Amino acid sequence: MSLSVLVTNTKGGCGKTTIATTLATAFAAAGFKTALADVDRQKSSLGWLATRPDSAAPITGLDWRKAADPAPPGTQRLVIDVPAGLRLGHVQDLLKSADVVIVPVLASVFDERSTSRFLKKLDGVKPIAKGRKRVLVVANRLRSRQKSAQRLLDHLATAGFEPTAQVADRALYGELAMSGLGLFDIEQRRAAAGREEWLPLLAAIERAAAR
Ligand SMILES: Nc1ncnc2c1ncn2[C@@H]1O[C@H](COP(=O)(O)OP(=O)(O)O)[C@@H](O)[C@H]1O
Ligand SMILES: [Mg+2]
Repeated sequence: MSLSVLVTNTKGGCGKTTIATTLATAFAAAGFKTALADVDRQKSSLGWLATRPDSAAPITGLDWRKAADPAPPGTQRLVIDVPAGLRLGHVQDLLKSADVVIVPVLASVFDERSTSRFLKKLDGVKPIAKGRKRVLVVANRLRSRQKSAQRLLDHLATAGFEPTAQVADRALYGELAMSGLGLFDIEQRRAAAGREEWLPLLAAIERAAAR
């Protein structure tokens, strides 16, 4: 069974590449034949892959900047990293290659507002409106002690976009990214706490795969 996940938001800097690369490491570590497609002209995901050590679980990179070329035969998990600011039409095109959509959002007023608008637009897109494809919201870079985190969660709940996962702000993401790694590649204890936060998202993705 194969499954494809589209990580998107019109807003930049909300963690799309971090989520795409981390999910790819989760799938690869679980033993799935995994590919990571990069739509971004800046090639953030492909740049990350280029620095990935041979000892880490393999992830195949796909350059989707010009065209959405098919993943290699036998691919079980495909993660698509979409850049900020794409037209909705382009996102809709990419949606054809995806089973699940993941939308990261940060705890900032500007991010909340623009992401709510984006989520409403996505809700109007046919396969999503008809319930064939699910949108999963990830509240990202949360600092639980800050008021902004609670405000974001309240805002999402009120707007009907309850997040599937809450990912904390951790310096570890940036540190691992520098060496082509993700949270699911390493044994360290400080990664274990972070990994817990991803379990509801991974479970929701697998449920979508099973449908
Ligand atoms: N949960 C997190 N904790 C700490 N830093 C994060 C987290 N998510 C993203 N970042 C950092 O935020 C910056 C933007 O993230 P990135 O994934 O590149 O966003 P996007 O792809 O949406 O532009 C990067 O420096 C990244 O390391
Ligand atoms: Mg990015």
